[in-house]
Amino acid sequence: MAKLQPVRGMRDFLSTDAKKLRYVEQIAKDVARLYGFEEVITPLLEHFDLLAAKSGEEIRARMYAFRDLGGRKVALRPEFTASIARLIVTTLRNKPKPLRLFSTGTLYRYDEPQFGRYREFWQSNFEVVGSSRPEADAEILSLTHHFMQKLGLRKYWFKIGHVGILRGILTDERIEEERQNRVMQLLDAKRWDEALSTVEQFGASKKSAMVLKAVFKAKGKDSSKVLAQIKKKLKNYDSSVAAVENLQQILELCEESNLKFNTLIEPGFARGLEYYTGMIFEQIAPEMEISIGGGGRYDKLAELFGGKSTPAVGVAHGLDRIVLAMDKQSTTPEFSKQVVAIIPISDDVIPRAMQLALQLRKEGIVVELEVMGRKVARALQDANRRKVTHAIIIGPKEIEKGKVTLRNMRNHQQQLLDIEKLFEALS
Ligand code: HAM
Repeated sequence: MAKLQPVRGMRDFLSTDAKKLRYVEQIAKDVARLYGFEEVITPLLEHFDLLAAKSGEEIRARMYAFRDLGGRKVALRPEFTASIARLIVTTLRNKPKPLRLFSTGTLYRYDEPQFGRYREFWQSNFEVVGSSRPEADAEILSLTHHFMQKLGLRKYWFKIGHVGILRGILTDERIEEERQNRVMQLLDAKRWDEALSTVEQFGASKKSAMVLKAVFKAKGKDSSKVLAQIKKKLKNYDSSVAAVENLQQILELCEESNLKFNTLIEPGFARGLEYYTGMIFEQIAPEMEISIGGGGRYDKLAELFGGKSTPAVGVAHGLDRIVLAMDKQSTTPEFSKQVVAIIPISDDVIPRAMQLALQLRKEGIVVELEVMGRKVARALQDANRRKVTHAIIIGPKEIEKGKVTLRNMRNHQQQLLDIEKLFEALS
């Protein structure tokens, strides 16, 4: 006997859940349009090597990877950015920059299923390609903020850092990239002490360990204060200082352009994905303790894939988690709208009922035709249960005179109406 439940971590979306998800997706599309992003649709299945290149150990180990019948090692995409980078170095190689690329769809990670964590989940993904300027970073923050505002979400904040700060110290301490990645993974998992001892094991100086400790500790809402504080500690780590200054520029730009969102500056935070080279951020809803979005700058990915140097910055929003946040913050809209049930009293008037249904649908009215052959009372009971707003009852005698009965399901009032007056009565 076949198993009839969905595979663990996969979900069916029925009526309301599907509506909520599609609503959030539609708002993402509206935001994409407002910010000048073009949609690209990339395949769900990509070469494993492409997806694995810089996704980071955490995601790499959790990919749905397999060999197809042709023996190719492939995987279901765990994110969009690798596919976008593939496009940047191939088909879109010679397109004028910047490119603003937008996608929505499902992603797959073999994560442990729990609240807000699924093995198949949805993202809206935005990438600005070809600019290394801080205004490109600020645009990504701006559109993310705009998206949340449009959804009615008010309680969320941006946790913001810059990978250049930590990587700058580690590079100056001659710690090679692979080892840096291991440290970043520990930081992503918030294992600060282990990260520090690992850095020391890798031969970093005592002084650098002190500086790192200070960077990990420094966090706060006042960005200028936090960044000034760590800048002092970073003396002689020139590229880390440059990273702090870059972050300062981005945040000042947001402030000066009146972009107001809550921030928590956390210079010691890292993200699981390995391709980031600059500003990184996550967006957190207070009730959830999990990110509803995340992104950052990745200036080296195109080169890694054999293309020319192409700076880029982007973000992905977790649509499933946004739906959860909207439920928690009570911003989910009512999806109720006018639905009309057409109920023929007897079989001989079914063709007239279908004609009328077609006429009303042409006027944009949603019509559910009674297709179960039920008696009027039963059909009305069912219409009531399903929150249908109006019922049109078609009887053989009335229809002969060009009339039908219109029943308002909310106040139960009924009237016998000329068919010509129906549209007017319904609108
Ligand atoms: P990410 O942080 O791995 O970044 O994912 C972005 C968002 O996807 C998360 O903040 C979360 O809301 C949602 N998400 C991730 N895993 C799950 C899961 N198992 N279940 C439900 N939701 C999940 C990226 O994917 C990068 N590609 C973002 C990016 C674009 N960076 C630059 N450009």
